[in-house]
Amino acid sequence: MDKMIIQGGTSLNGEIQISGAKNAALPILAATLLSRGPNRLKNVPKLGDITTLKRLLEKIGANISEENDGCSIEVKSIENNEAPYAWVKTMRATILVLGPLLARCGEAHVSLPGGCAIGARPIQLHLDGLEKMGAEINIEHGMIHAKATKLKGAVIHFETQTVTGTENLMMAATLAEGTTTLGNAACEPEIVDLAHFLNQCGAQIIGAGTETIVIHGVKSLSGTNYEIMPDRIEAGTFMLAASITKGDLLLKKCNPAHMGSIIEKLKATGSEIVIEKKSIRVIGKEIKAVDAKTLPYPGLPTDMQAQFMALMSVSDGLSVVTETIFESRFTHCAELQRMGADIRLEGHHAVIKGVPHLSGAPVMASDLRASACLILAGLVAEGQTEVLRIYHLDRGYESIEKKLSQVGANIQRVKGDL
Ligand code: EPU
Repeated sequence: MDKMIIQGGTSLNGEIQISGAKNAALPILAATLLSRGPNRLKNVPKLGDITTLKRLLEKIGANISEENDGCSIEVKSIENNEAPYAWVKTMRATILVLGPLLARCGEAHVSLPGGCAIGARPIQLHLDGLEKMGAEINIEHGMIHAKATKLKGAVIHFETQTVTGTENLMMAATLAEGTTTLGNAACEPEIVDLAHFLNQCGAQIIGAGTETIVIHGVKSLSGTNYEIMPDRIEAGTFMLAASITKGDLLLKKCNPAHMGSIIEKLKATGSEIVIEKKSIRVIGKEIKAVDAKTLPYPGLPTDMQAQFMALMSVSDGLSVVTETIFESRFTHCAELQRMGADIRLEGHHAVIKGVPHLSGAPVMASDLRASACLILAGLVAEGQTEVLRIYHLDRGYESIEKKLSQVGANIQRVKGDL
């Protein structure tokens, strides 16, 4: 298994190009199951999670060819409506094929996603919504069996905002009979990107990006050409890399309009930020201690919490970081403590007393964003940091060591034994 070796202490300066968004590309790839025509997708990031989903789609019947900066994908017919555990166990987002498969062929058998390092992550709201649309759902031996000769439009109110739940039901509703209304829908920009893609294919979705989404079912969807939105979490992670190393980074090909909460939070810590239409420049200065609380969009994303905690570890005061979305998304704290961070956990709060410097150490990544947090900590730590189990990192950050070395980081991927 590969590991990342970082010699900390260099400030990062230069330009980084942001890749396409993992969490938009995943539902859009799943949504191609709904359309019969060929789709050409651009700005698809080259990531472990994307490869996992593409392999599953191929098993279902998709014809995929890789292209420069993306892929073309066509699902003329569904050859196989089953996604067994062996194919879905490495990635929870495979649940995104459930709604499209059911809508397209009236039956789907998808394994329940397994456990996850960041919390229980139930999918009951996806299943309740499909049942309201007339699906018959049974769970046996870890498999979800869903059947519906024809899904019917329904009024569905989510008890809690769920990103992939909103996406799954929005996709299913595009081919349902009649109108579906999703209330308390999640508002993340990735949901808007999915709706744009589906509408380009002929769907009739109104209100994506607000808490009420109305979907008028249509008979069929055609293929389209579509460019995936930029990854706001990758951009946010590099913004923090500029701040933590007191560097100066220009992030190109991103969308600042999606990043208001991250920009405001970083400004409050003392970084200077220059925003243009498609780029953000971050000039790292002092690092003031600032409290932060994760919230659904447009609040601070939970996917930035671990990275923000790395920054607060070297801030000049006391801060409290509160996680409100996932119950156990603090596994990075113990690793940061091994690097000298002063963090005390109290339920879903982390109380962080900034220290003047972290010291490099071997650390273990436990999930994707925790890995990014440890890379940031390694960039600023004195001496050498080894981040083990970086397969998590490869699931969600395209060529991170290449992007960081080109702006001056001393980071290297090596073959490791853990
Ligand atoms: N929830 C329920 N019941 C459900 C579904 C969700 O109670 O049926 C709860 C969850 O337990 C959680 C909250 O709702 O407390 C939000 O979970 P959500 O369903 O929104 O998460 P998700 O759709 O599984 C997506 C992203 C995550 C991101 C979260 C929150 C994708 C593929 N994944 O997950 O991304 O953290 O939304 O924004 O879009 C990552 O990229 O590292 C990542 C984990």
